[in-house]
Amino acid sequence: MQDRFTAATQEVLAYLHEQENKDLLRFITCGSVDDGKSTLIGRLLYDSKQIFEDQLAALDKDSARWGTTGGAIDLALLTDGLQAEREQGITIDVAYRFFATDRRKFIVADTPGHEQYTRNMATGASTADLAVLLVDARKGVLTQTRRHSYIVSLLGIRHVVVAVNKMDLVGYDRSVFERIVAEYRAFADRLDIPHVTCIPLSALAGENVTTPGTAMPWWEGPALLPFLETVEVAAARTQAPLRFPVQWVNRPNQDFRGFSGTIVAGRVRPGDAVAVLPSARTSTVARIVTMDGDLEEAVAGQAVTLTLTDEIDVSRGDVIAAAGARPEVADQFAAHVVWMNDHAMMPGRGYLLQFGTHLVGGQITEIKHKVNVNTLEHTAGKRLELNEVGFCNLALDHPVPFDAYAECRETGSFILIDRVTNATLGCGTITFALRRAQNIHWQPMTVDKAARAAAKGQKPCILWFTGLSGAGKSTVANLVEKKLHAGGYHTYTLDGDNVRHGLNKDLGFTEEDRVENIRRVAETARLFVDAGLIVLVSFISPFREERRMARSLVGADEFLEVWVDAPLEVCEQRDPKGLYAKARKGTIANFTGISSPYEPPENAELVLAAGEHDPETLADQVVAALKARGIA
Ligand code: ADX
Repeated sequence: MQDRFTAATQEVLAYLHEQENKDLLRFITCGSVDDGKSTLIGRLLYDSKQIFEDQLAALDKDSARWGTTGGAIDLALLTDGLQAEREQGITIDVAYRFFATDRRKFIVADTPGHEQYTRNMATGASTADLAVLLVDARKGVLTQTRRHSYIVSLLGIRHVVVAVNKMDLVGYDRSVFERIVAEYRAFADRLDIPHVTCIPLSALAGENVTTPGTAMPWWEGPALLPFLETVEVAAARTQAPLRFPVQWVNRPNQDFRGFSGTIVAGRVRPGDAVAVLPSARTSTVARIVTMDGDLEEAVAGQAVTLTLTDEIDVSRGDVIAAAGARPEVADQFAAHVVWMNDHAMMPGRGYLLQFGTHLVGGQITEIKHKVNVNTLEHTAGKRLELNEVGFCNLALDHPVPFDAYAECRETGSFILIDRVTNATLGCGTITFALRRAQNIHWQPMTVDKAARAAAKGQKPCILWFTGLSGAGKSTVANLVEKKLHAGGYHTYTLDGDNVRHGLNKDLGFTEEDRVENIRRVAETARLFVDAGLIVLVSFISPFREERRMARSLVGADEFLEVWVDAPLEVCEQRDPKGLYAKARKGTIANFTGISSPYEPPENAELVLAAGEHDPETLADQVVAALKARGIA
């Protein structure tokens, strides 16, 4: 998540860094306009009168140029529209504002309170140390308050301030405040939020916001701003074991080899013993190099280049960690996933996962449960829709180093990315590695694919027939198999209708069921290739991503995608099983081509004009293609 900051945010961060990072508080505000959130933020910004001066100067200029306030300062221009996320295909409404007092600098992530809350909040909360939750004194704890609290706890925020606002409208009544506090605490006890502070205030009247007010003499606690100025949040990060994800290998010449990145947790000194994950090679830190010379020590938040005393292999995406307290390395783990895309998440579908600087393919293998973010109830689910949260098992293409999110947010979180569009689809926080992953190993086999294929005197492969229902896939596949069989080849055909009577009889035709249908048949086809067979697969297989996945399971020369390309009108007219007629009448749901999409292949090895030629001719074309490849 961190990697996806915009240039503008990076600039702000760099600026703040220059101003000495040591006392920066990032917080997120949650609540709606009705709760008085903008008034509160406005008051914090104006009353502290400490918006950075050069930012003010820039803002002045921008306001004159772009502002909507007729030349007066437009505070909205202080916000960062998160252009990068937009470009990643995800519209996030998070405004980052920053201000400072004599004691501390602040970055406020402000997210709208409307229904599209989850992804916005997750983005804002992922880098925040504290959350200010607004509650309207007249309304008390609402569903929205509970939902915000859950997401805040999910994203690892350990400090929550409940700002009970509009106390002026309840006559500054102590008992109203205390009732809300009791109600909130009862709820928060079910969440993992160690520090909850409740403050009664009136943003409108300026009571207890930047300075203690006079209207609530019964209140002995701090006003909001003084509390934010003094609350202790950051210590844990620098005291944790070292975590240094390598952003790039810095090798300007033969004599220098350093590893550049930002320390995300802990501290480092020359002489420290470190391990490089996932390889688990160990070494010792030689130097901490920066633009301003070598350092004796560097801590979380600093961008540095480390050199090691040994010439060991380190690449981008590796994590350099304290040798005595390493991250875990695994390819399966459990995580909470917040889905942020309009197109639902399907278990079994291939996604890219980005762990800090490391990109790896993987899938959500199972949704263990969904979490109703309003009630904390667990429900069953086969897919995750936009803004839903699920507790899931994930499997990666290869092991990566990570920590539990509770231990380290940077190495314990990931984002999910669409393979084709590169859009951000969701984010996740890791709970634990799945032990079964550590206990299952590849069993070496003496008789392997090559041996089995040699015994049959053939080159095994998958012939993947895809196309609409009624296009003729099974008819052509059947003819091809007949010809191959006559030629003495060892073959097997996996046909959609047949496999759905056995292995896949639990599956229907929803998108998630089709994903799983193809995942199982692709894995089966892979096993048959391993057995040395020529496998003919005849499934509609309407989605590109699953066909890509099937292709990726075998060697590049072992997969032939055959698009049995008959126009929908032709298939519908043939309607061999009468299904199109039923689909048109609406008695079959999700029918491919009618009420469910078919994504045509873009790089099929063979396209059969199935509306024009008879099956015999098409089968000959397939056999000819196999001959050309030395398979038949
Ligand atoms: S796939 O989309 O998941 O690949 P598959 O090839 O297994 O589909 O099964 C398709 C066959 O199931 C079709 O040939 C048809 O006979 C039957 N069928 C029943 N309902 C549907 C439906 N809603 N959409 C497509 N095919 C269906």
